[in-house]
Amino acid sequence: MNERVGVAKTIRSLVRILRSKPQIPASLADQAMLKVILRRRSIRSFSSQPIPDDVFGAILEAGRLAPSTINLQSWTFAVFDSGLWQQTFGRPIPFHGNRAVIVISDTYRYRQVFNEFPDCPLTEYTIGVMNASLAAMNMNLAAEALGVSSVMLSETGRSGILDAKYLKETLHLPEGTVPLMTMVFGYARGAYPPMPPKLSMQQITMAGRYQPPDRAALQSWLEQMIVGYNASHPGASFQGQVSIYRSKINQAENDLKEMIFRREKQP
Ligand SMILES: Cc1cc2nc3c(=O)[nH]c(=O)nc-3n(C[C@H](O)[C@H](O)[C@H](O)COP(=O)(O)O)c2cc1C
Repeated sequence: MNERVGVAKTIRSLVRILRSKPQIPASLADQAMLKVILRRRSIRSFSSQPIPDDVFGAILEAGRLAPSTINLQSWTFAVFDSGLWQQTFGRPIPFHGNRAVIVISDTYRYRQVFNEFPDCPLTEYTIGVMNASLAAMNMNLAAEALGVSSVMLSETGRSGILDAKYLKETLHLPEGTVPLMTMVFGYARGAYPPMPPKLSMQQITMAGRYQPPDRAALQSWLEQMIVGYNASHPGASFQGQVSIYRSKINQAENDLKEMIFRREKQP
């Protein structure tokens, strides 16, 4: 009986995932930028087709021109083709992507000429993360607009915030820099996966004051997350992925605290 209930829940979750689509009025659905944003998916399987240099250059340019606090542009992009990635890390780009960019929050560079802030490491770190993440999203959408797919990675293949210390040592990054994520770029192998379960507009918006979450709706979302992940990652499981994060997060926490709070004072 329990097993039957489990199977029914799984089927219900899969149907919900497959049925869900962006809620956009038909009159707006043809807008080019909106189409790119809504089409975007995290892609984890790439063909061997190379990204031309001018296309990749345009993606980086979109990152360079992103908005930032006081226009400080507190980011550095560590740029790789497959050869340089292999040489640097001794393994292929995750998912056999064609190019990769490690997006680094960088409050070191501007401090060389602009050192106006009092020592407020947490706020400055947060500003750095915000700005670099916005630049990452600019690159992500520019890529999508140019037919190039991508995924942002915080864990897979020691490539993001959970391995910030390892990346910092490997790339010889100075104080005030924190590697946040690796973006992997390439042409998608096969069709895009369905949209993973997104919370409803009602669940993520508030008017005036915070509303208590609808626990039943949240529970249904979590079930869809687990079922969707397991269906789209053969050989892996949602729980397995969570346990990788659980096993690394304490060490990452200590490493990040050290990077953010015990930084040397800049001249
Ligand atoms: C900062 C960040 C880190 C991520 N890290 C990983 C990762 O380590 N491995 C992975 O497979 N996907 C990773 N993702 C992709 C998310 O799993 C994905 O965005 C999410 O499931 C929603 O799917 P969608 O991007 O197709 O909408 C990351 C996304 C972001 C924004």
